[in-house]
Formats: sequence, C-alpha cells, structure tokens
Amino acid sequence: MSVEEHRDIARQKMKGHCGVYKHCDGADGRVCQRNAYGKSIGFGGVGSGQSFYNNYNALQKIKLKMRVIGENYTPDTTYEFLGHNLTLPVMGASLTGVNSFGGDSVITEADFCRNTVLGAKDAGTIGWRGDTYTYDWDFMPCYDAICTAAGGWGVKISKPRDQEILKKVFKKYEDGGAIAAGIDVDGSGSTIMAAYSKPVFKKTPEDIKELVASTKLPFIIKGIMDPEDAVAAAEAGAAAIVVSNHGGRVLDSTPGTAEVLPAIVDAAKGKTRILVDGGIRNGYDVLKMLGIGAEAVLIGRDTVRAAVGGGTEGVKVLYEWYQKTLAKAMKMTNVPTLEDITREIIY
Ligand SMILES: Cc1cc2nc3c(=O)[nH]c(=O)nc-3n(C[C@H](O)[C@H](O)[C@H](O)COP(=O)(O)O)c2cc1C
Repeated sequence: MSVEEHRDIARQKMKGHCGVYKHCDGADGRVCQRNAYGKSIGFGGVGSGQSFYNNYNALQKIKLKMRVIGENYTPDTTYEFLGHNLTLPVMGASLTGVNSFGGDSVITEADFCRNTVLGAKDAGTIGWRGDTYTYDWDFMPCYDAICTAAGGWGVKISKPRDQEILKKVFKKYEDGGAIAAGIDVDGSGSTIMAAYSKPVFKKTPEDIKELVASTKLPFIIKGIMDPEDAVAAAEAGAAAIVVSNHGGRVLDSTPGTAEVLPAIVDAAKGKTRILVDGGIRNGYDVLKMLGIGAEAVLIGRDTVRAAVGGGTEGVKVLYEWYQKTLAKAMKMTNVPTLEDITREIIY
C-alpha cells in the first residue's frame, strides 16, 4: 500500500485527534489545535499553536533553486550517522504517548514503539524513541522495541528527569546495544511529568557533562533553538544536537526551526552534529533543511500517521517515499550527493 492509502486509514483511526490534512500546519481550525485550550495538548501545538504553525510556514517560505542543465546522475542520498550507514539523512523523531492521538484503541504504546523502530530499520534508517509520564522502570516499551526487537538499532531520548534515574536508564540502553541516547532539554517545561511524580529539570552544562561521562553511548541533546545553547551543548560533549521546538509543543510563540537553524549552524558547525525537526513533510522539505545547514532531519507527526495507518510497513513505506522525493529534489537542484548541498540551492 502507498503512503496515501496508509494516510487514509490513519484519517479514520485518528478521528478527533488528527485530520491527516494535506497541509499539516497546526493552523486555527485544525482538529488537533482545538485540543489545545484548557485540555491536554493532543496531537497539536501548545497554546495558540504559533510554534507548530511557524515550523511549517518557515519551510514554506524557503524556495529551491532549480538547476536542470548539466550531467545526468542518480542522486546518492546515503548518509553516515555516528558510524552507521543509512539510506537517507532522515530518521524517525523521538515520539511517545499514544494518548495524544487516540489511545490504545488506535494503537498500543508497545506496537507504536515497535512499528516506528522496525519500520525505520526496514527502510535503512533509524527510529528514535522518546519518553513520557506513563514510562518507568517497569514499563519500557521503547527498550523492548529498540534493544529486544531491533537488536539495539534505535536511539533513546529521555525526558530530563533526575540525574540518577537517567544514568540508570542510559546504562540499560548501553547494555542493550542502542546506537545513542540523550535528553530532550526542552522537556523541562513538562507539567504532566511532575503531575505523575516524575519531575523534570532544566539541566546545567555540568549536569550534561555528568550524563555524557556516565555512558559510552554517543550523547544527543534535543530541543535547541538558540546558538548559545547549541555551543553549550557541544562544549558539554553532545555528539549531536537536534534543533527543535518539540513540534511546537513546549513553548508558545517560538520561531520555526528553519528560521533559527542558520545562526545555530554558523555558531556550532564542526563542534557537534546538527540535526533538525519541525514541519518537515516530504523530501523537498528535507533538502531545504540540508540547504540551510542541517546534516540530517527527524520526522514526527508523519511517522505517527504512518505507524497508525500502516504499522511497521507503513513507516517503512513512508521513509522510502521520503528517499524518493529527496532524490528527485537533489536531481533537480544539481546536487549529486549530500556533500554537494550548500546554501546556493536555496532562495
Ligand atoms: C504526539 C507527539 C509526541 C511526541 N513525543 C515526544 C517525546 O516523547 N520525546 C521527544 O523528544 N519529542 C517528542 N515529540 C516531538 C518530536 O520528537 C518532534 O520534535 C516533532 O514532532 C517534530 O515536528 P513534526 O511533528 O512537525 O515533524 C512528540 C511529538 C508529537 C507530535
């Protein structure tokens, strides 16, 4: 089945949570956005939805420079991430919480974890997993998916919980052979974690250094929106950072990630690997993010829809479609390999 057919199934299953619209932009009137006022966040953005909307619209403002006279070639989308060869510079974003998109009757958390991790693996890329208030030492569906089902082929991003808990979790993933681990520093604003007695904290550079030193796994900091934070994360030992506002889910009125990415790249390129997410919906968007300096991207809401609509196969087919659309975009902008991508291809 195609991406569209999986999306049609997801539209039925996610009724009331996500309209699976042609444009997933978090605009006023979208069903996900109606959840945001006084209710749980659901599948939308926090508060007014501006941050979610800004992610999508920042990418719409960027245009690709078409260059079609020259040598013929088949674009090479292969990408190396932390020593692993991937088919494309696109990975599954750290995601959790099926309650946000319909609950167990739509998909169980265990199936969601397995679908996203194994579907990514089948497509030749990596599924990342997140952390939420239902997770604890006795309920680790991400661990089961990454370390048991996928033999370690996955990345674990924990909420910025208590340091000692984090060290224990990272050790478990390290022993389970995971590719990398880290924290979403922008999760420090979560009130639901505290409400379920799993408090989260802002982390100092010293805290991050301590976590980096506690594990042999490459360490990732997700939720960077500012050059100074990017440099601080790099100096604390982050192997990679993710420029992200959590899909517009943590702080109202932030810019889109594509708006802040160039300055972060100018400040931190060469000091750490710079990834980005937010509002990316096809290979053309991927190329735009690479054009303004990211080395790879993560896909959030599209991954959820694919997992709900098509299971493991749905996720695989989605990333294959991203590969095809990225390859087409690279052919039409005269960039045979990822190394050839520069800001020159962007208007
Ligand atoms: C329903 C949902 C759950 C999410 N859960 C997590 C999580 O547990 N940990 C995390 O780091 N980010 C989480 N995110 C944020 C994503 O990793 C990612 O930053 C965001 O979805 C990217 O934007 P996009 O959805 O427009 O692609 C979640 C996002 C959504 C929509």
